[in-house]
Amino acid sequence: MRPLPEPSAQSLRLLFLFIFVMGVAPSPALTAGCPHGCVCDDQLLVVQCAGQELTRFPNDLPLATRQLIISNNRIGDLPPLQLNYLSDLVYLDCSNNSLTEISESTFGNLRKLAYLDLSFNTLLQIEDRTFGPLASLVMLRLTDNPGLGEIHSDAFSENVALQVLDVSRNNLTTLNISGLIALPALRSLGLSGNPWKCDCDTEDLCLWMNKLEGITADQSQKICYSPPELAGQRLSEVGMQLRADCHHGLGYWDYLFFIAIGFVIFSAGTVLRLTVAPGAEI
Ligand SMILES: *[C@@H]1O[C@H](CO)[C@@H](O)[C@H](O)[C@H]1NC(C)=O
Ligand SMILES: *[C@@H]1O[C@H](CO)[C@@H](O)[C@H](O)[C@H]1NC(C)=O
Ligand SMILES: *[C@@H]1O[C@H](CO)[C@@H](O)[C@H](O)[C@H]1NC(C)=O
Repeated sequence: MRPLPEPSAQSLRLLFLFIFVMGVAPSPALTAGCPHGCVCDDQLLVVQCAGQELTRFPNDLPLATRQLIISNNRIGDLPPLQLNYLSDLVYLDCSNNSLTEISESTFGNLRKLAYLDLSFNTLLQIEDRTFGPLASLVMLRLTDNPGLGEIHSDAFSENVALQVLDVSRNNLTTLNISGLIALPALRSLGLSGNPWKCDCDTEDLCLWMNKLEGITADQSQKICYSPPELAGQRLSEVGMQLRADCHHGLGYWDYLFFIAIGFVIFSAGTVLRLTVAPGAEI
């Protein structure tokens, strides 16, 4: 057997130098170590902290984290400062926690975030521009927040990449769709299991249900909860009825009013024509 060649002094020096440099200046992914209770994959940049009975957002997360899973804990809030350091975050699962509030500043810097799960929390309302900075957001799961009764019409209006939005099983009685209609990429919308109140405030939503062509929408689960005469009917079925009910036909006095207005405009026009010199421009 041939003896292994002795490593030259030169290559040993290089090896020591390499180890020294690695020890002094590790990659950013390694600098912060891994938060207590979490498992970190430094290669894939995944931090997994699910089901650790955490009551607070984990400290000292590696800055290069791309995927963060903090589901199945009891975390009460998402601190904007700590969260927004993670500017490379693509995937964030916060489902099944105790989040009560999120705001515009919560996700202020997460421009690469594509997947966000806020299901099974205790959110009460979603305000204007809450998801505004999330320009890359493709999928947003916002289901099973039993007290969530209000979503602002402009909550999602800047999420131009949004394809899948699920707001099933919350406490929504109405949803202003003016922001949703304009989303160019939206192709799936979950609305089931909410106590929809089928009145004039939901008229637009109900009519839209009929027009959702490309968008997958399981109509069977989307039913009116109130008023009693519409309870149990599908949103898509009551749209035309609401349109008729919410825009009453013209009554006798309405016709008289329009005739009077018409007469006033006609007279004004006639007077104007008579008083302005011929050839003058009106
Ligand atoms: C939520 O997390 C708790 C604690 O880990 C777990 O027992 C429960 O099954 C989870 N619920 C859901 C809906 O995932
Ligand atoms: C849902 O909203 C109704 C009012 O619309 C309220 O009375 C009820 O308490 C809410 N449910 C939950 C679980 O917060
Ligand atoms: C829905 O929101 C838009 C924009 O915020 C507003 O102009 C409109 O009146 C709202 N519609 C209803 C039915 O509240």
